[in-house]
Amino acid sequence: MTTRRPLVAANWKMNGRLASLRPLVAEIRAGVEGCRAEVALCVPFPYLGEVGSKLAGSAIELGAQNVSEHESGAFTGEVSAAMLRDYNCRFAVVGHSERRTLYGESDALVAAKFVHAIRSGLTAILCVGESLAERESGQTEEVVARQLDTVIKTAGVEQFSQAVVAYEPVWAIGTGRTATAEQAQEVHAFIRLRIARHDDDVADGLRIIYGGSVKGGNAKEIFAMADVDGGLIGGASLNGAEFVQICRAA
Ligand code: 13P
Repeated sequence: MTTRRPLVAANWKMNGRLASLRPLVAEIRAGVEGCRAEVALCVPFPYLGEVGSKLAGSAIELGAQNVSEHESGAFTGEVSAAMLRDYNCRFAVVGHSERRTLYGESDALVAAKFVHAIRSGLTAILCVGESLAERESGQTEEVVARQLDTVIKTAGVEQFSQAVVAYEPVWAIGTGRTATAEQAQEVHAFIRLRIARHDDDVADGLRIIYGGSVKGGNAKEIFAMADVDGGLIGGASLNGAEFVQICRAA
């Protein structure tokens, strides 16, 4: 079995301003020095340059929260993977539940973004996860399988060696209601098995991270599960001390 290096990625979403983010980056940079986990900051597009320059010389990676499915052209307001590469982005989040639900991103669109990100040399962080209604009606596996299968079919399973999957149950995002470590493990194991149906080695090496109300106080227990390889952190990543604590827990 491969040992997978844990990844803790901050997703700041549309929060903060330059003035508040500068000290946050400095605090995170100093705090995660020497950390075993890989650490990434997925920041709003306009701040990629500034945050990137503040991370220069550190091991912290830069990421974006979204990416276009197109290479270039008349797509007003969109940002291409190549543009992200110009800013030394390593990661791009694709298919976050907020994009799926608030901006109507379909499984097919998410798959196209995934393909484009990887083709351009980014590591895609593919988000999957069920809503509360779907969990309560016993459809968790069906929903996650559908989200995953569209991408496997479009991209091919080999592409997952340049990807991370984030399991983010929608009911746990920003609600303070975290999945239990066992609930997370159950779905993470399911995701790994789903990939293993196509390729054992890819499944074994794939980092599957958990997102949804991860805090300094609950990270350790969740990250201790066999198939949980780190976290995608929203609210708690806007607090330097707490985010550092989460990184250290991984
Ligand atoms: P919270 O950590 O705020 O619940 O957000 C999780 C998330 O959506 C990360 O992408």
